[in-house]
Parts: sequence; C-alpha cells; structure tokens
Amino acid sequence: MMGVMKILETESLILRPFEETDFEAVHAYASVAENVQYMIWGPNNESDTKAFILQAIAHSRENPCKNYQYAAVLKSNGKLIGACNLTITRKDEAVVGWILHRGYWKQGFGTEMGKRIVEFGFVELGLHRIIARCNTENYGSYRVMENIGMRREGCFLEAGPANKFSDKKYGDEYLYAILRDEWEIQQEIAYYNSLPVIFEDFIDVPDLTDGEIELVCTAKKPAIPEKKWVPAYKFEIRRGNNRVGMINLRVGYTDSLYYGGQIGYSVDEQHRGHGCAGKACRLLVPVIRTHGMKKVLITNSPTNIASRRTCEKLGAKFIRTARLPEWHDLYKEGLRFVNIFEWSID
Ligand SMILES: CC(C)(COP(=O)(O)OP(=O)(O)OC[C@H]1O[C@@H](n2cnc3c(N)ncnc32)[C@H](O)[C@@H]1OP(=O)(O)O)[C@@H](O)C(=O)NCCC(=O)NCCS
Repeated sequence: MMGVMKILETESLILRPFEETDFEAVHAYASVAENVQYMIWGPNNESDTKAFILQAIAHSRENPCKNYQYAAVLKSNGKLIGACNLTITRKDEAVVGWILHRGYWKQGFGTEMGKRIVEFGFVELGLHRIIARCNTENYGSYRVMENIGMRREGCFLEAGPANKFSDKKYGDEYLYAILRDEWEIQQEIAYYNSLPVIFEDFIDVPDLTDGEIELVCTAKKPAIPEKKWVPAYKFEIRRGNNRVGMINLRVGYTDSLYYGGQIGYSVDEQHRGHGCAGKACRLLVPVIRTHGMKKVLITNSPTNIASRRTCEKLGAKFIRTARLPEWHDLYKEGLRFVNIFEWSID
C-alpha cells in the first residue's frame, strides 16, 4: 500500500516518510546520550530504533494519517540528518517536534524543518493550533520555536523528565504555541514588508484640495531607524479656514504599521458625520503615488463604526481582525484588537 504522507521540501532538505533502510542513520543520533539528553525517550538500543522506524512507517500508511513522522534528508547528498514530526492531538490541533544528528546543529536546519512542518499543519491539514514542548534548558529547541513564530505560553515546573546527565528526576518544560491566525498574519506582514516604496526625501506637497476640504502639511517627521519608524507627513484637515481634524501618512511598511496602518486620521468631534476622513484619504493619493506605494493599510478599533464606514466607502478591503501583540504601542494604550483594511491606490 502506498503511504499517504506527502513529501515536503525546504531550501536544503527533503522531508519524507521513513524507510527500513534508514536504520543506521537514525541510530547514529538516537543511540547517543548527548543527542537525546532532552528527549523523553532514548538513548536507544538497536531494537528501540528498529521499533521506532517500523512504527513510523506504519503511521505513515494510515489513512487518514494522524502521526506524521518525517525523515529529514539533505538535498545536496541524500544523507538522513534528523527527523521532525507532527501528531494530531485533537480534531484541529497538533504537537510538533524535531531532532537532528548533533553534527548538524546550529546551521539553521532545525528552523528550516520546523517552519515547513508548521506550514504543512496550517496549509495542508487546515489546523487551528500547533504546540511544541521542550525542557527549559533546551535553548536550541525553543529558539527554533521562536524563530518559526511560536509564542511561549507557559512554563510547567517539573512536568517532564530531567536532562539525562542530571541527577534530578524531573525537568521544567516550556509550552509554545502558534494559532492559524498568527501564522497567517506572519505571512501577511512579510507580504506588506516586501512591497515597494520610493523615498529619497519628503516631497514639496502640492495643493491638496477637492474644493470643499484642504490638507495643509504641518510637519514632516524623518524616519527614526532605531525605533523602526518610517518617515511621516502630518496634515491638518481644513474646511474653509477652520481645522476639522488631522491625517498622517507614514511612508513605508513595517511589522508595527501592519497593526497601525500607513494612514491615521481623526476628525474633531463637532465636525464628524460629513465624510471628512474619507475625503482626506483621497486627497493623499498623489503623495502616496509619488512614494511608489500601491497599497496602504488603514486600521481601526473594532468598536469604531465611523472609521470602519470610512474604509468601506473608500473601497478598502477588510483583511481581518488581528489580536495586537504586547509589544505594540496600541496594546500599551489598552487596545487589544484592530480591524485591518487594505486600500489599493490605482
Ligand atoms: C533542537 C534542534 C533540532 C535545533 O536544531 P538546529 O538546527 O541546531 O537549530 P537552528 O540552527 O535552526 O538554531 C536555532 C537557534 O538555536 C541556537 N542553537 C541551536 N543549538 C544550540 C546549542 N546547542 N547551543 C546554543 N545555541 C544553539 C542557534 O544558534 C539558533 O539561534 P538564533 O536563532 O538565535 O540564531 C537540535 O539542537 C537537536 O537536534 N537537539 C537534540 C534533539 C532535541 O532536543 N530535540 C527537541 C526536543 S524538544
């Protein structure tokens, strides 16, 4: 019977089901105490390794497969250098793990296979949540978890075995997790951060008016690279000669601006209800174009109906409601979620 496990590829590895002929390569890491000091199993004797391989092969042939045991093989020379796995624990949740022969540590292979197995879980298996656990001393393993965007959810004292060279019985364990939404947000952030931007200097702002309202540039704030702040224009929105609000344009894409948006506006209370924010956004188009930006994000609090309507009337596309990360300024101001809209400038 053919296995049902899909072969996965990364930049330098092929992840494929185990074969009986993998014994030697697997035993070369599974039988060495240093290599498995933080694992709940091992060091293996020959029959342990044989049993593991046979069980992994059996799992790979189950349909539907619930326990994906992948052998990691170097593309360059076909050598088996380790393994990773994904085990379904609940309907839409799984736990992942990895091991490499110690001769291949610290070269990025752990991160490479971890990233692919998590992508597999979300894209191909449609999972909702993926978790991983490790001994709190296992720096290499939890760095892999962090590198692939997992979040530390907890530290469980004496919840696992101690490292094999310790005279203690129990070891502390970290639990890491990533939700499907978080994974999708990482892809979206990477996408926006890859969009082109042209910025040599601030431009001399042309007259920005539609006959009813006018934007008057009040400040040009240079980038602050240490804070990862991009250059920004600040405008007063005026009707007649009166200020009715303000609007900012931030020139660039960063992780923080995914949640905060390239455009930020506020209309003074007594002037609300006349569509000023939307009109001001449209007046920014020539400036946005000059800086080579084809898309801008506008974000707002989910309770802010007026701002949502502004985005909808602009024809901006609703991307998602995103949970704010704790490091974000908006989180520090007390906000927990933002609605993210993408406005295409054509
Ligand atoms: C866990 C393991 C798969 C990591 O693989 P890896 O290929 O070394 O990981 P990467 O190269 O992607 O490295 C991830 C990070 O950890 C660091 N790191 C890895 N091993 C390390 C070590 N022994 N000491 C210090 N740092 C280490 C890397 O420098 C890198 O740091 P950075 O992201 O801050 O630059 C590998 O160490 C291993 O097989 N360990 C034994 C089995 C095991 O413990 N599995 C996990 C059980 S929960």
